[in-house]
Amino acid sequence: MYSRIAGTGSYLPEKVLTNHDLAKMVDTSDEWIVARTGIRERHVAADNEVASDLALAAGQRAIASSGLVADDIDLIIVATTTPDMVFPSTACILQSKLGISGCPAFDVQAVCSGFVYAMTIANMFIVSGQAKNALLVGAEVYSRILDWNDRTTCVLFGDGAGAVVMSASEEPGVLATKLHADGGYADKLSVPGWVCGGKTIGSPFVQMDGGSVFKFAVRVFDEVAREILEAAKMSVADVDWFIPHQANIRIMEATARKLKLPLERLISTVDRHGNTSAASIPLALDESVSAGRIKRGDNLLLEGVGGGFTWGGVLVRY
Ligand code: UT7
Repeated sequence: MYSRIAGTGSYLPEKVLTNHDLAKMVDTSDEWIVARTGIRERHVAADNEVASDLALAAGQRAIASSGLVADDIDLIIVATTTPDMVFPSTACILQSKLGISGCPAFDVQAVCSGFVYAMTIANMFIVSGQAKNALLVGAEVYSRILDWNDRTTCVLFGDGAGAVVMSASEEPGVLATKLHADGGYADKLSVPGWVCGGKTIGSPFVQMDGGSVFKFAVRVFDEVAREILEAAKMSVADVDWFIPHQANIRIMEATARKLKLPLERLISTVDRHGNTSAASIPLALDESVSAGRIKRGDNLLLEGVGGGFTWGGVLVRY
């Protein structure tokens, strides 16, 4: 038994914030942001939109594209760093908004690697016979945890959600997965605040040592790609599409060059979405499926890296 991608969906909030808009808010420029990151614009959630709203829109589209109905879903995993509330989980809130109950629902907190963590977990549920149709959603509202006066972080992130339905199948499917974490890097990328006694203690905003994250990301994207391909007994030549976490076009292209993967096979949406953390991979996946670029039978290499640090990937035949 394998798990395969039965359907995809995504949702982007209506409001678009361009680099030019940001240049009116902080000391930055379109030239600097494009040259250093490849980002031109990002979407920002409305004041009344929370992660589960974005997840609902993306999830409903993924369920519809898989030819299923919400009642068929027997596992819900939401990857998010910006949950609606401390608890219940965004996955439980999403379950209720979908009008279903009973199936397991939980969040995965692995920051920008959250979606590949979720996919790996869902694959294990499905191949062990504990689920047949899993809804996985990466949903983020980073606009809520950015210091809009800090030009070193506020220009990088965006809001959005991407979703995938993974179903049990006799055809592959997920071919190999690999996850890693090293909490020794916790101070390099964090939101080091928490709620205590009715107050926020510490900073509620993203803090990042950009240079360290950049170097680490290029190294582990390359390493984990090789581990996954070796596990699947495949090579870079077998990868039809590389969909890394969309943080910075320079990280993505540097990785492709290290892997000797032609840039035409690198999927990039970072120019229009910015870094949407756990949502970036399923957003890029759904956009490419909807555009007809990714076709049934294509081998996709999905890779995430983020706070923790966490990193990992999934090789999946679409
Ligand atoms: O999802 C995973 C999390 N994040 C990432 O993957 C991000 C990884 N890191 C990066 O993408 C890059 O390191 C950044 C885009 C964050 C920064 O690019 P960089 O080429 O490493 O630039 P830098 O941090 O070395 O900054 C260069 C200069 C600095 O000025 P000085 O010290 O040289 O005078 C910064 O103060 O650019 C300045 N700077 C800016 N200037 C204009 C930093 N942010 C901005 C800005 N606009 N928004």
